[in-house]
Amino acid sequence: MITQDPRERVISVFNRVAAGYDDAALRFFPFCADCLVARLNPAPGTKLLDVATGTGAVALAAAQVIGAQGRVMGIDLAQAMLDRLQEKIEKFGIHNIDLHVMDAAALDFRRDYFDAVVCSFGIFFLPDMAAGLGEWVRVTKPRGRVAFTVFGRRAFQPMMELFLKRLERYGVVSLGANLPLAASRLADVGHCRDLLSNAGLQQIEVVTEQLGYHLKDETQWWDVLWNSGTRGWIEQLPPPEREVFKTEHLLEIRSLVAEDGLWLDVETHFAIGTKP
Ligand SMILES: C[S@@+](CC[C@H](N)C(=O)[O-])C[C@H]1O[C@@H](n2cnc3c(N)ncnc32)[C@H](O)[C@@H]1O
Repeated sequence: MITQDPRERVISVFNRVAAGYDDAALRFFPFCADCLVARLNPAPGTKLLDVATGTGAVALAAAQVIGAQGRVMGIDLAQAMLDRLQEKIEKFGIHNIDLHVMDAAALDFRRDYFDAVVCSFGIFFLPDMAAGLGEWVRVTKPRGRVAFTVFGRRAFQPMMELFLKRLERYGVVSLGANLPLAASRLADVGHCRDLLSNAGLQQIEVVTEQLGYHLKDETQWWDVLWNSGTRGWIEQLPPPEREVFKTEHLLEIRSLVAEDGLWLDVETHFAIGTKP
């Protein structure tokens, strides 16, 4: 039974994808985390909140930069994602990251607490993005920074559109004017800018970067779909139908594989503002 509650849906799907989330095909997550931390350039000793930390791409990159005097707090709704991060923390002997299961939209921290709050590819899952961002601003110190990353409209195209059209033919989604993808709710630079500005942030900067690369072939595209939020849709198909869907979809994707492999567009917006 597929739950309709967005919060429950997020918990359920990310608990299931956690084991495969660090798959090589999805290496844009750590690439992006490195870029985000480089842009933010937090000083040693910074107290930083990583909202929707997942398996910790940003938390791990930030922990290295802020050093032993700094502290990263990583929060997420999906326990299995945090468990993967906890394994890495223990494996690498990291001492400056703390983890909590917590909703990005209801933070259990006092106001003006963090020097910086960041969220990579998580804000578009919030039913009310403005309210969630308001919470992040509340817990940020004056002159502290709030930053998030989102996908641009070109990200994952043309493969994602082919995937969604085929899902529609199978009756899993319906494609109206707006794509049913969570990420497409915040794919425009202007929208990112307005969101930051309406939250009362200043010195706003929204920069777009292409973080794409070539996948080996169409099977790695399936790894992207299966190990991320899109898996929830695939699993709505009963296993025998799912196999037919996969075969048909990968056949159409194979025609896009060139000499270098299959280009994975990862157009990414980096949005940053400062609390007055
Ligand atoms: C696409 S992953 C990104 C993870 C990580 N930031 C990264 O860049 O690899 C999205 C994450 O957002 C989390 N998430 C979604 N809605 C959330 C919410 N309301 N509160 C906390 N975490 C949430 C999911 O559980 C998932 O781990």
